[in-house]
Amino acid sequence: MQDDGIPALKGWSEAELDAAFAALRSELEKDDVFVALRGSPKSSEEIEEFRLRWLGRKQGRLKAISDAWLKAAPADAKKPLGQRFNTLKALIEARLESAAGSGMAAIALDAEAIDITLPGRRRKLGAEHPLIRTQHEIVGIFQRMGYSVGVGPEVETDYYNFESLNFPPGHPARDTQDTLVVAGQERKPLRERLLMRTHTSPVQIRTMERQAPPVRIVIPGKVHRNDAADATHSPIFHQVEGLCVDVGITFADLKGTLDHAMKELFGSSVRTRFFPSFFPFTEPSADVQISCPFCGGAGCRKCKQSGWIELLGCGMVDPAVFGFVQQKQPGYDPEKISGFAFGMGVDRIAMMKYGIGEIGLLYSGDLRFLEQFA
Ligand code: PHE
Repeated sequence: MQDDGIPALKGWSEAELDAAFAALRSELEKDDVFVALRGSPKSSEEIEEFRLRWLGRKQGRLKAISDAWLKAAPADAKKPLGQRFNTLKALIEARLESAAGSGMAAIALDAEAIDITLPGRRRKLGAEHPLIRTQHEIVGIFQRMGYSVGVGPEVETDYYNFESLNFPPGHPARDTQDTLVVAGQERKPLRERLLMRTHTSPVQIRTMERQAPPVRIVIPGKVHRNDAADATHSPIFHQVEGLCVDVGITFADLKGTLDHAMKELFGSSVRTRFFPSFFPFTEPSADVQISCPFCGGAGCRKCKQSGWIELLGCGMVDPAVFGFVQQKQPGYDPEKISGFAFGMGVDRIAMMKYGIGEIGLLYSGDLRFLEQFA
């Protein structure tokens, strides 16, 4: 072969021409695409490149060789030379055509092709957020005890968030839940002013106003307080509220229900204990502690060496609360019915269950954190 890639001809006899074309033919037979055109698909780009490489009018190999050879050929060799070029060209064209005719051109569009025999592309499922997962878990425990699930508004009136829960205007108990209020409400009477609910307890009142006793309901939801953010405080957090009202409900029912719920949540070896506390809407009120699920009660860093962790507030519904409800539902007669309520922080429980040290991580949207729950 010469430097310009044009094979050298030994002479112009038919035998010498045949030998030269046999060499060209075997070069063609080594071309991947030429071989592939017989069966296995090639991309349309590759086929077009192949066509240009061999048959291109300007740069094509056959054109370059025939130009060189025909120019040098003596007059009587031009015809047999031309015939052989035509044969070779026809061979390539036939191969290209049969590929197109057999649907290979269509198959060759592999970039755009849809192979319906391939399994579909799976979209990655997101993971349940640890807060929502914990909330579902808590709610599920009460659903299995026959409770239904309710919701209420996050923007509340002063009446539902405070007054009907027996926090009278100006009562010091209001200071325990520093409120984020909606601006521009000053001209309304206090009870109609809007605020971000500080707890899920207003939904107790809303539920009882809608539904005569008996009631067994849990209310999960978001609450807001004017608290400075730190490792364990966030101005937005979550609670699950519970309310049970019926004939003859006692403090023993409250204790049994919460003890069972805590065992479901943290394991059957967990114990509970109840301490006197105060909420304006329950009487008596209690704080509930569970034996530390990390050390089993022996004392560790998590429970500050006490063996116990405080987890929720609860109590028997104060008759004054039934008094507010009776304005709409006379069935809540404190002489005939009684009930208990409880409220727990979902964030706190999620942090304990998953060993999360910073409440802010629950609200950061940081995928490196969230992916650990996938
Ligand atoms: N609402 C109270 C709080 O946010 C918790 C609670 C609910 C206490 C129900 C008693 C009964 O602190």
